[in-house]
Amino acid sequence: MVSAEITRFPQPDMPRAAVKSSNIAVQLDGVLKKFGDAIALHKISLTIDEGEFITLLGPSGCGKTTLLNLMAGFAEADGGEIFIDGELVTEIPPYQREIGIVFQNYALFPHMTVEKNVGYGLRMRGVPKAEIAERVEQALALVKLAGYGHRKPRELSGGQQQRVALARALVIRPKVLLLDEPFSALDKNLRLSMQVELKAIQRKLGVTTVFVTHDQGEALSMSDRVVVMSAGHVRQIGTPDEIYRQPRDPFVAGFVGDVNILPGRYAGRDHAAVLELGGNALRLPAERVQASVGERLDVYVRPENIQLGPLSSHCFLSATVITHVFQGDHVDVHLDVPALGSASLFARQSGLESLTRWPVGSVVGITFDDEGVCAFTAAKQG
Ligand SMILES: Nc1ncnc2c1ncn2[C@@H]1O[C@H](COP(=O)(O)OP(=O)(O)O)[C@@H](O)[C@H]1O
Ligand SMILES: [Mg+2]
Repeated sequence: MVSAEITRFPQPDMPRAAVKSSNIAVQLDGVLKKFGDAIALHKISLTIDEGEFITLLGPSGCGKTTLLNLMAGFAEADGGEIFIDGELVTEIPPYQREIGIVFQNYALFPHMTVEKNVGYGLRMRGVPKAEIAERVEQALALVKLAGYGHRKPRELSGGQQQRVALARALVIRPKVLLLDEPFSALDKNLRLSMQVELKAIQRKLGVTTVFVTHDQGEALSMSDRVVVMSAGHVRQIGTPDEIYRQPRDPFVAGFVGDVNILPGRYAGRDHAAVLELGGNALRLPAERVQASVGERLDVYVRPENIQLGPLSSHCFLSATVITHVFQGDHVDVHLDVPALGSASLFARQSGLESLTRWPVGSVVGITFDDEGVCAFTAAKQG
């Protein structure tokens, strides 16, 4: 089998205990990076397990590429330490770190055939010719490009070029695979199918993978864990589910997924947190509120956690339907909520019947599911 040849990584069906003994692939300890006076990375600490698929997620300029470059050895840290496979790599040049890299813009050698591109790292390492030919063939089969070896990069589509780049990164059997926004130049459908394929290849090989993206959907769908970054800081590290459902700060809550931000107040606390929202009391598990009692709050509510119903004494707030935004598989119903002052909100409804059930201008009752609500000290107090 192709994958068994190309990899020396533990296979998914191996017992967990077999890989347990030294299962940290990458460790960053207080890694600091400056450009002149500007701090690009503020003492980042992070541990990545062997075989893990981890994603660095954050807006443009937050330091994702810089962090990847430090792991790869293309740039030098101004403080802290980086270990790969247990070894301090500060003094180790990029080509000796056994890292495979895929960039956003293909970066294939244009004058070389696909075969030569993929075999490049092996030639540099002095691998015998026959072995190179065999490994290149296996790597091309892995990315579904068997038979394309004699083409030049310009004779391939964008997606195919990225597959070549992936084959070139994997053929050296890297300890860690680094991918910097590899699919962002591709159109949406191709991007989705490449995500599925990359994930399947990564599972098959069990290769430790650090994936960089600014696209939250991509991060949530592919990763074992997501590292949310902003302005050179790590904001939260967690599984996609944790990041989405238990955001630790307003940045994470606002960056990952869609959200309504409503004005409230932290009214009191017993075994639960009691929020005042639009003149009503909303009780939430206390860990969902990051603020002190008495403070003004920004209450974050996911649109899919807002229920619409007929106006009754059971509903939390009353609202008027302003407009519907049809999104294909769901409808976003935008609502005016008089009790919340100038704040309007939108509720995501999966069935298309909400178009006729809640016509524009109708008055509805809204309730919130707890699990889609969290609150933080308001950005603007007063
Ligand atoms: N070579 C460089 N010289 C000066 N500033 C840089 C350099 N590379 C990156 N930066 C700055 O460091 C910050 C992080 O950049 P980068 O790691 O490229 O972010 P991201 O990949 O998340 O978009 C940005 O403010 C950027 O302008
Ligand atoms: Mg970048």
